[in-house]
Amino acid sequence: MMHISEEMLTDTSKNLLLQMTARRNVAPKRLVEPGPTEEQLNLIFRAASNAPDHGRLQPWRFILVPHSKRAELGNAFVKALKQRDSNPSQDQIAAAYEKAFRAPCLMIAVISSLPSEPAVPLNERLISLGCAMQNMLLMAETLAIGSGITSGQAMNAQSIRDLFFFTEHEEGICFVNFGTVSSRKPARPRAPPSSFVSTLK
Ligand SMILES: Cc1cc2nc3c(=O)[nH]c(=O)nc-3n(C[C@H](O)[C@H](O)[C@H](O)COP(=O)(O)O)c2cc1C
Repeated sequence: MMHISEEMLTDTSKNLLLQMTARRNVAPKRLVEPGPTEEQLNLIFRAASNAPDHGRLQPWRFILVPHSKRAELGNAFVKALKQRDSNPSQDQIAAAYEKAFRAPCLMIAVISSLPSEPAVPLNERLISLGCAMQNMLLMAETLAIGSGITSGQAMNAQSIRDLFFFTEHEEGICFVNFGTVSSRKPARPRAPPSSFVSTLK
């Protein structure tokens, strides 16, 4: 595969590459105040709206969890834990509750499988959500805002579904967290294209 040297890149490409390589997942406990301002959050969501979307279904949405609702989310996490484990320890309960309070800006990403015409399968809808999320993470990176994704067994527990008023066609995919990075992990090595690209022979 052709090697691309830095000199071949335009400034725009260089900047894009810089943001892409600088982005990394930051654990929510390392995302602290200040979170994004309303204006910055608006830019992040505008980035999301530029995602490809087969059939223009807008099959995903994000629900912000303001500080005033974190305790309710914590209780929903605890309920979900108790549902899958009949006898959790006090430490497990405290950890489940505390998860709701970590990043200054927290939202849940939701996908819809509502039947459509033409039918666009769930896989394609999830790709659209993934693209939207990557746009958001990259936009955050350009604003010097750290980001992290979290998921886990509680995503579609009844307590979470109830709290966020999911419809029967909706599913929670993950949480997206934003904030100021308190400490950053070193960059991880990236897979070379040769490890995931081949040419049909
Ligand atoms: C849908 C999705 C769910 C994720 N859930 C978690 C999670 O529950 N906990 C976690 O530590 N990281 C989670 N991640 C983040 C990945 O662990 C992270 O992207 C991966 O380690 C690669 O690191 P990088 O993003 O810095 O390249 C999730 C990522 C995606 C795309």
